[in-house]
Amino acid sequence: MHEAARIMNRQETIVLIGAGSIGQAIARRVAAGRHLVLADYNEANARLAAKTLEEAGFDCSVTRCDLGSRTDICALVEHATARGPVKGVINAAGVSPSQAPVTEILRVDLYGTSVLLEEFGKVIAEGGSGIIIASQSGHRLPALPEEQNSALATTPCEGLLALPFLREITDTLKAYQYSKRCNVLRVMMEATRWGRRGATLNSISPGIIITPLANDELHGPRKDGYLRMIEGMPARRAGTPDEVGDLAAFLMSSRGRFISGTDLLIDGGCTASYWYGDLQYLKTTH
Ligand SMILES: NC(=O)c1ccc[n+]([C@@H]2O[C@H](COP(=O)([O-])OP(=O)(O)OC[C@H]3O[C@@H](n4cnc5c(N)ncnc54)[C@H](O)[C@@H]3O)[C@@H](O)[C@H]2O)c1
Repeated sequence: MHEAARIMNRQETIVLIGAGSIGQAIARRVAAGRHLVLADYNEANARLAAKTLEEAGFDCSVTRCDLGSRTDICALVEHATARGPVKGVINAAGVSPSQAPVTEILRVDLYGTSVLLEEFGKVIAEGGSGIIIASQSGHRLPALPEEQNSALATTPCEGLLALPFLREITDTLKAYQYSKRCNVLRVMMEATRWGRRGATLNSISPGIIITPLANDELHGPRKDGYLRMIEGMPARRAGTPDEVGDLAAFLMSSRGRFISGTDLLIDGGCTASYWYGDLQYLKTTH
């Protein structure tokens, strides 16, 4: 659509940050007939996703955005609200333990997601919804002391990375787990604010989902460990981005309006098995 016509026609808008496999699967299910903003740190990823989606009938715009930067997030809010009322926000951006050092994981996954919730919580439209992709990994962290839970949930964003227990983290897996735990707690805290605007907000914690990232693991040096984990979980297989997409679409639909401020695990039973089943051996390594 021509830019001037688009702005005059102000469409309901869906914002996807992180135009990877899981993000695209969700967008396909919720963005038909709406304007879809694709935001990614790697603009080439977002452009590629936009091309595929536009060829399938979606109306997209692309913008580069680093989730870990408040400036970029505010620019994204401006870009999206100029298109139309923001009916959906999907955060499927993130860096995994093998992709980045501790400081980068905390900056992007923990701090960035918290800022995103704060900034889009100011503009989300009545009847809108937000989905944050957390991870089963956050469910493997033992219960935290209440002061830590409360600090992760309520500390103003700009103070989060200075929390003493976060500054002590030296291991990337722990940084990822704390980040994903923080996502879930932050969603609980922000659900009240989003609710005042008539919007719902939830997180989804996927288990092993076949994406290029997981495929690398399944064909790399940790392949045997991964295959053993898959065999030991109740579903006895990995998940697909489409299955996460279906869950997100339900939460973002009219049927999900009574669900807010919660986290849904979609992991083929892996977490249950980690704590009390065949995967307990992982407790010493994961
Ligand atoms: N695939 C899995 O098995 C799995 C399991 C649990 C959780 N997750 C989570 O799901 C989310 C999506 O992962 P995916 O498997 O679709 O991976 P993916 O690599 O296909 O997509 C991730 C996208 O995030 C973007 N990104 C990375 N850093 C960014 C930043 N600073 N700012 C903006 N964009 C950034 C990447 O460029 C990429 O396009 C991540 O948060 C990941 O932690 C994935």
